[in-house]
Amino acid sequence: MADSQKKLSTEAYKGVRDFYPEEQAVQNFMFDTLKRFVEKVGYVEYGASILEPAELYRSKGAENAEMVNEQTYTFTDRGDREVTLRPEMTPTVARMVAARRRDLGFPLRLYSIPNVFRYERPQKGRLREHWQLNVDIFGTKSSYADAEILGVAYGIMRTFGAKESDFVIKVGSRSYLDAFAKERGLTDEQYKTLRRLLDAKDKMTAQEFEAGLSELEIEPGMLSADNPPADIEQMLKEFAAANINNIVYDPSIVRGFDYYTGMVFEVFNTNPENRRALFGGGRYDNLTALFDDEPCPGVGFGMGDVTLRDFLASRNLIPAYVPPTHVYIAITSPELAGKAQTFAGDLREAGVNVAIDFGDRKLADQIRMASKHKIRHLIVLGEDEITSGNIKIKDMESGDESLLSKADVAAFLLKA
Ligand code: HAM
Repeated sequence: MADSQKKLSTEAYKGVRDFYPEEQAVQNFMFDTLKRFVEKVGYVEYGASILEPAELYRSKGAENAEMVNEQTYTFTDRGDREVTLRPEMTPTVARMVAARRRDLGFPLRLYSIPNVFRYERPQKGRLREHWQLNVDIFGTKSSYADAEILGVAYGIMRTFGAKESDFVIKVGSRSYLDAFAKERGLTDEQYKTLRRLLDAKDKMTAQEFEAGLSELEIEPGMLSADNPPADIEQMLKEFAAANINNIVYDPSIVRGFDYYTGMVFEVFNTNPENRRALFGGGRYDNLTALFDDEPCPGVGFGMGDVTLRDFLASRNLIPAYVPPTHVYIAITSPELAGKAQTFAGDLREAGVNVAIDFGDRKLADQIRMASKHKIRHLIVLGEDEITSGNIKIKDMESGDESLLSKADVAAFLLKA
């Protein structure tokens, strides 16, 4: 009987990605590089569940109306609890720090690479699930911690091979903007509108932006003509002394979240075709006050894998795909499968990653599979090879063949 049921779509859910081996390898390359770098500068890894009580994002101080009302994936569980798939990691890590504040040593340097979910309109650089490196320091208000976080952001970019001319780090100041709003006599609502407007500046035309400002009776010049606030100026001087010249003051950098209280920053690709921020963060000194009377200051950033990958691709900084498998063993008949297993077992024992064909297809097809999977070396195992112990290894990239005795194969492959 014909199957009348409609076939399911093979497409992934809207705005999320499947990672086939080559894409997963890029992801692993990025994460391994990030981990190595942040661990070198003293950060340790933590983790948490994707699920959080919805109230974590609704409470005052953590509130970001656009995020909570329009972008969270929130559902009611079978026990009638409202649950949210985390849209960011900062409230979670603040909760964790508040929970163990007495046991944790400060300054506390933490990092994690969680996946986070936002119901956004999928577009270049914006998806509904992304992974985000979070790097944060807790327990200090030192401006050296702010500088360290900027230094980590800078160092990550350089570690990937980016030149200073490829990116710029723009630093703004929430405390300065707070003072500006106060001086202008803005109400809380008006100040919030100003922050939203500044944060969305790159997504609108200059006219739209200026129209928004004029509603608040602010002229564009008022926000841009100033010298950096003293603390930021000092920091930029120190970077310049260390010969780091692409960290600059930009008073229009404010960031979308309400919880920031001091230095805020965003990293941009200098290629004008990519105007969206690559990543960003800042100081947030009151977030743990949601859980605890004694707030624990924090400063850090979140760096998304989508924008990072786009940046690296645009600058040719992603290495070519190499599968973890060192060698593919093709066999001339299925009867040799057992002997091939024994041979593969010895190689694996010596540290070589080996995949074996089942021998149920023509030799030419088996060999084609090795190339298709981009496995560098091929061994064809037949009766002759097994009895003589002389093994021919083909380098699939160069086409070179080497004849070796069985005992030398592992060392050869590991050196290649
Ligand atoms: P955020 O600016 O909302 O900050 O996100 C940080 C980065 O995550 C963005 O710059 C971007 O790279 C990436 N990102 C955000 N949304 C998406 C999306 N829909 N698709 C792809 N990538 C995205 C935060 O989340 C703060 N919690 C960061 C932080 C940590 N501040 C202090 N510590």
